[in-house]
Amino acid sequence: MTETLDISAVRAQFPVLSREMRGHPLVYFDNGATSLKPEPVLQALEAYYRDYSVNIHRGVYELSGYATAQYDQARESLRRLIHADPAAGEVIFTRGTTESVNMVATGWGLRHLGPGDEIVTTPLEHHSNMVPWQELAKRSGATLRYIPLTAGGSITTEAVQETIGPRARLVAVSAMSNVTGYTPPVEAILAAARAVGAVTLLDGAQYVSHHPVDVQDLGCDFLVFSGHKMCGPTGIGALYARRERLEEMDPVLFGGDMIERVTLEGSTWARIPEKFEAGTPNIAGAIGMGRAAEYLMEIGLDQIADHERRLFRVIADRMGSLDYVVPYGDAPDTERGGIYSFNLEGVHPHDVGSLLDQQGIAVRTGFHCAQPLMDHFGISGTVRASFYLYNTEDEIERFVAAVERIHGILT
Ligand code: ALA
Repeated sequence: MTETLDISAVRAQFPVLSREMRGHPLVYFDNGATSLKPEPVLQALEAYYRDYSVNIHRGVYELSGYATAQYDQARESLRRLIHADPAAGEVIFTRGTTESVNMVATGWGLRHLGPGDEIVTTPLEHHSNMVPWQELAKRSGATLRYIPLTAGGSITTEAVQETIGPRARLVAVSAMSNVTGYTPPVEAILAAARAVGAVTLLDGAQYVSHHPVDVQDLGCDFLVFSGHKMCGPTGIGALYARRERLEEMDPVLFGGDMIERVTLEGSTWARIPEKFEAGTPNIAGAIGMGRAAEYLMEIGLDQIADHERRLFRVIADRMGSLDYVVPYGDAPDTERGGIYSFNLEGVHPHDVGSLLDQQGIAVRTGFHCAQPLMDHFGISGTVRASFYLYNTEDEIERFVAAVERIHGILT
């Protein structure tokens, strides 16, 4: 039996939700951009800064040992969140998804790819999972190929088979579109990549915080995600990489903490994962992200995913009854997460966003760091409502009523 979320109890943990905006209770539908932060995460951040704000790995004193243990514990929490191998040390702290992708492109890609090799991605990617591959292709001489989309922005298994050919060496796709909430056929993509011996990267920025993930079941080589989209702080994220991949990857930052021995002639590197974490890390960020992972696991990722699927069905249904609403994404709701993108016929998305703001409703408008997907749809932008565990059907009712009012005003 699937348990449902106790939404009132969840909402009570997020102080921002008690705020009013423009004289209305805030409706926060911009979770694709970043999530709000719950009390346990705020408390973990405050505890670091208030009670033990010292450096890690460096001190022989008790407080530094404690901070190091908290940092290591945070890494362990992330490992449990994505079910990585407990023995392999496969989670690296980064500044976020963007840095994680760039680390793979530079640290792994430049070493392994060359002319004749193919990097495969899709046109629906966030720029952070596209621009690094464009640069890698330029610098390595490899060719970048895109799995074509259907008119509505989905990916068929035929398109996957046709695009991932024998020259593919790296396949990098998003587990969930940040624009339409579409979840591509990741298993089929990973299987096609494996069949030709290509290394795989999943962009989990929009997925890991909303769905259960098991990297060992998936069998991906890399998984990248951010702390701030999973109830954690900004400026911290993670790179999961299979041990084998980490061993064949170069560090991209050099300096303190990542070395084993430095002489005037040269240096050797520390063990994994420290080898990839040069400099004093974002200690509080890591601890906050670890606490966020624990928080999500306490609530249950299955419950969160079910809740958001329900919200998506409600909004798709309610907005679908308005004939002037143009929704984006043609996948069925079983292949969608909690993101709904749309336009009002003949109205600029920024105008809709500003008028929603007047009613206390926060959404993102524009091209959502996904210009090629906008080009594919033949538009310059959308209005995006994106949900999380604390959103409610009542908020969707307020949102739909606001959209109806806006349509009345503007047409
Ligand atoms: N990647 C974030 C978004 O899609 C910022 O809004």
